[in-house]
Amino acid sequence: MTLEAINLTPRIGSEIKIDLDTLLAGTEAKAIREILSYRGVVIFRNLPLTDEHQVAIAKTLGVIPENEGVGGIYKISLDKSVNARADYLKGSMMWHSDGSLQRYPNLGALLRPIKLSPTGGDTEFCNTYAAYDDLPEEEKASYENLRVVHSAEHSQYYVTPEMSYEEVKMWQQMPTKSLPLVWTHQTGRKSLLLGATADYVEGYTVEKSRALLAKLRDWATQPQYVYHHQWQLNDLLIWDNTGTMHRALPYDLDSGRLMHRTILEGEEPLN
Ligand code: OGA
Ligand code: MN
Repeated sequence: MTLEAINLTPRIGSEIKIDLDTLLAGTEAKAIREILSYRGVVIFRNLPLTDEHQVAIAKTLGVIPENEGVGGIYKISLDKSVNARADYLKGSMMWHSDGSLQRYPNLGALLRPIKLSPTGGDTEFCNTYAAYDDLPEEEKASYENLRVVHSAEHSQYYVTPEMSYEEVKMWQQMPTKSLPLVWTHQTGRKSLLLGATADYVEGYTVEKSRALLAKLRDWATQPQYVYHHQWQLNDLLIWDNTGTMHRALPYDLDSGRLMHRTILEGEEPLN
């Protein structure tokens, strides 16, 4: 075994110790994918990487979609001169998973800090498999057939609480998606599907729906399901986007914080 994994908390997050050549060779890729699917997040520390390394590592783990970034690298920055979609990215400070509106939500992502913010800017992840597993059985049963409508519009109210009519109409042009509240994966394991795009529970009154979504977000983001990552340069972090939510903790928009992200294409359709 050329890989050593250390649990960072009981329910989520592992640090993997491996040398760069082995990581690039992909001989441990299957083992890393397996750890990711149970631990939600894996991190590698003190690994000085180039963009090319990052993309090469991603390719050992899955497929990089062509529609994001340049050469497999997408710049996460709240500075509009670095990322034209900086305003949209402000939504990443709310609990979310990526690509929840796609038919194939992203499998995961690799994130590597290029410039840290002097204050704030850590990232938190929660394990939505563990959160589901721990629910009382009768609650699990009551959620079995519930569906939640997700919309890009809903997530934008967190960024711009008082959107103009034009803004609302613009976001409403994006298709909404009805998703199960409980995601039964191909493995048979189940996770909670929540996040900033979760708009309302189908068939519920507005109040009952808001209350349930808040209750379950509170539940899933309790400390025992959360891994809080304090970034250091030369970190590489990978998350399983199908069994976690994440959020950036606040940082100054002009801090220069810059992360390079490579996403892994989803492998499991969500209907
Ligand atoms: C993302 C994201 C959080 C961060 O890259 O999808 O939400 O801390 N990033 O930058
Ligand atoms: Mn994100």
